[in-house]
Amino acid sequence: MDKTGSGTAISLPHFSHDKSPIATLRGKGQKVTAVVPVELIDLHPEMGSLLEEALDGLTKPQKTLPPKLFYDERGSRLFDRITELDEYYPTRTEISIMERHVGEMVARIGAGAVLVEYGSGSSLKTRVLLDHLESPAAYVPIDISREHLLASARRLAAAYPGLRVMPVCADYTSAFEVPEVEALLARPTVFFPGSTIGNFEPVEAADFLRRVARVVGPGGGLLIGVDLKKNAKVLEAAYDDAEGVTAAFNKNVLRRLNDELGADFDLDHFEHRALFNEVQGRIEMHLVSHADQRVHLNGTSIPFRKGETIHTENSYKYTLDQFAHLASATGFAVEEVWTDDQVFFSVQYLVHRSP
Ligand code: AVJ
Repeated sequence: MDKTGSGTAISLPHFSHDKSPIATLRGKGQKVTAVVPVELIDLHPEMGSLLEEALDGLTKPQKTLPPKLFYDERGSRLFDRITELDEYYPTRTEISIMERHVGEMVARIGAGAVLVEYGSGSSLKTRVLLDHLESPAAYVPIDISREHLLASARRLAAAYPGLRVMPVCADYTSAFEVPEVEALLARPTVFFPGSTIGNFEPVEAADFLRRVARVVGPGGGLLIGVDLKKNAKVLEAAYDDAEGVTAAFNKNVLRRLNDELGADFDLDHFEHRALFNEVQGRIEMHLVSHADQRVHLNGTSIPFRKGETIHTENSYKYTLDQFAHLASATGFAVEEVWTDDQVFFSVQYLVHRSP
């Protein structure tokens, strides 16, 4: 493949070849600055206006705020702390499943793979794969957050010299219309860890899988992390830890509206709540108003009754059967499922079966 990115027949309007020195290597008393090329493809995802999104959700009968608003810099740091909590089993379980079965996973993916990661979260999981994949052709992290994406792409490029790293700044949750990129990425394997699929309503999850199926093409693969149904106490503890990190993560969205939009949420007048909704099969996170109160946002006065909630996140949990049905409705077949001994979490390899 062309390493400069300039020789491709496809024109990429927002293509920049980044050559900033990011790694300093020392050898034989010499200081050598390594140039780690990272090729950013910027599809300029439209960030809906924060104000519009917040007002839209806060004026509904059941007030809502979308979970993507959690992830400003502070929220991303709080999420990283969540992944290390005793109660939050998903991250640690997924990583241990991957470490234990990475040989089988990379055998499924095959040699010379182009690995596309949706929502390039913890690169720890990616590293488990990259450490074992046979001569991967390229790694393509896709994320909406440009800074975060570039920083982690550069770290990865430095850690894997010779690996072509092509970050794509795009919103993978909405229609993924990037023909230029798809053409560049003949037959990629998609990696979607973390059970982030659980943030989608089941209907949206199916739409998402159909888009992934188009990206990987017939015979193409998807390696996906899927959190499983289990005891409600275990689930609820994972989303309501003793230290209150998840509570701070949830409330951070209100702090954001105060800081960025001048809202006047009193964070002490809202309380974090996580509950497992057995009927819907999902963890719900809410912020509960402690009192009758009014909050002001850009000239709009928003009334809260005591006990009223803002619904901030759903995290759907699946049984292996339920997920297999969802997958097959979208043209995927589950080829292999790896779980931990407690069957808390699964990593699954799906193949797109052409109709
Ligand atoms: C990043 C969506 C996978 O649902 O477990 C963790 C987010 N929210 N604790 C999850 C989250 C509260 C997380 N995902």
